[in-house]
Amino acid sequence: MHGRHVVLGVTGGIAAYKSADLVRRLIERGAEVQVVMTTAAREFVGAATFQALSGREVRQDLWDPAAEAAMGHIELARWADLVLIAPASADFLARLASGQADDLLTTLCLATEAPIVAAPAMNRLMWANEATQANVATLVHRGVQLWGPGEGEQACGETGPGRMLEPLELASRVAALFGATDLLAGRRVLVTAGPTRERIDPVRFISNRSSGKMGFAVARAARLAGAEVTLVAGPVALPTPPGVRRVDVESAAEMLDAVLREVAGVDIFISTAAVADYRPARAAEQKIKKHSDRLDIAMERTVDILGTVAQRPGRPFVVGFAAETEAVEQHARTKLVKKNLDMIAANEVGDRKVFEQDDNALVVLWHGGRQELPCGSKQVLAQALIGLIAGRFADARAAAAR
Ligand code: CTP
Repeated sequence: MHGRHVVLGVTGGIAAYKSADLVRRLIERGAEVQVVMTTAAREFVGAATFQALSGREVRQDLWDPAAEAAMGHIELARWADLVLIAPASADFLARLASGQADDLLTTLCLATEAPIVAAPAMNRLMWANEATQANVATLVHRGVQLWGPGEGEQACGETGPGRMLEPLELASRVAALFGATDLLAGRRVLVTAGPTRERIDPVRFISNRSSGKMGFAVARAARLAGAEVTLVAGPVALPTPPGVRRVDVESAAEMLDAVLREVAGVDIFISTAAVADYRPARAAEQKIKKHSDRLDIAMERTVDILGTVAQRPGRPFVVGFAAETEAVEQHARTKLVKKNLDMIAANEVGDRKVFEQDDNALVVLWHGGRQELPCGSKQVLAQALIGLIAGRFADARAAAAR
């Protein structure tokens, strides 16, 4: 995270005391942190601690002429590589959702082009309240990432969802968002990518427009997150990401064989490949000659690689992809359930959308949750996706251990 600029917004909540530790964790990892406090935050913690830990004067007021002269709020919004609001109170989420700009932090959020992440912290009933949930839905729809809240005992003595994620966890996720991390250190990840080619005869095949870029970006991001990564790739013209072991295949059948060979001991399987659903039932041994006006090719179904892995006993954490032309989320959720997946990343595809492009946008779904990853480069999206996968994987592990 060296040289990365984080604006840390601290809003009014008891968890604000934990944000001091968060500043330390971010700085330990090389980030530069500018703390911005709301008026309510000052009821819970003083600015002096943040100032000492961040080495920067804490910004508190939109109308502070001295601070504005040093770095105006628009400049600060531009300076940020990330705006992280932790803790994010119910009130702040409401103000952000309604687009207010009546203090420094809300103004920064409106004026920045950097990703915005909120780590909510509040009483469980306040979190569950319909108004809060509607605000959260609006924010997520606009591309604000919500990290947490976690579950557990709350400052008010109640138990349930509403705790701010721990500073260490938040710092790891920030690092994941920026690239290099240890989020998946010691984990083995298997990724499939690219199209497959299904042979018609020795010189012809059926394939699709997948470039493999998303899958290669996912493999790279998993490697940057510290995982040992194997990438099973269909025929694509892409360089192997550094530190990734690559196995080249051509057809769906070869991809299945490679995946079944490699899957033992894998913690996370991410299936980004655009595997052919059908292949010619019989590939001709010799080049087909144009004897007649019409040529029919009988096709048969290929094996669903993702579905096969998801059905295995002791299977890894399984992430699928769904490329849809309509009702994206609905189709993706059906696939999540039908294929017994832990997570699915869906995108809308069309004539000129996604395939062969460098940019993409995803909606990621899991049982009981969703997160939109707004349009960005496939590299940046892949890093955000790996952050999400690592979070859900850790949650699944913790739940299994309980
Ligand atoms: N997949 C796979 N093996 C196949 C086909 C698909 O592993 N033979 C995986 C893809 O890598 C992707 C997911 O399954 O992760 C896509 O699901 P799928 O239901 O095949 O999507 P579509 O082909 O779009 O299906 P449908 O025609 O039902 O929409």
